[in-house]
Amino acid sequence: MSTIQVGTLADIPEGTGRAFDVAGRRVAVFRAEGQLYAIDDTCSHAEASLSQGEFDPDELCVECPLHGSLFDVRSGLPRTLPAFEPIATYRVYSEADAVFVEYHD
Ligand code: FES
Repeated sequence: MSTIQVGTLADIPEGTGRAFDVAGRRVAVFRAEGQLYAIDDTCSHAEASLSQGEFDPDELCVECPLHGSLFDVRSGLPRTLPAFEPIATYRVYSEADAVFVEYHD
């Protein structure tokens, strides 16, 4: 397990998400009510960037911008079709203002 700093809290304003490069993959980090959540940025249905979708910080889900599946940012599970496979989640945390993501090498 490795850890990488992806950015700072200023990069992820409250109620938004943003994708970062993490060891060759794209990881989307979302921020809601001071909590951070990290999932694969690529939808499990086709090539779409979930960080470009609409994030609902109350429901803690993001809508895929291509076909509209909703993904839970806590579990990576799709809540609606057409996607039906989960996407990976990552441990994410902040120290001071720095944001870190853990990943498997
Ligand atoms: S690419 Fe995400 S639902 Fe189709």
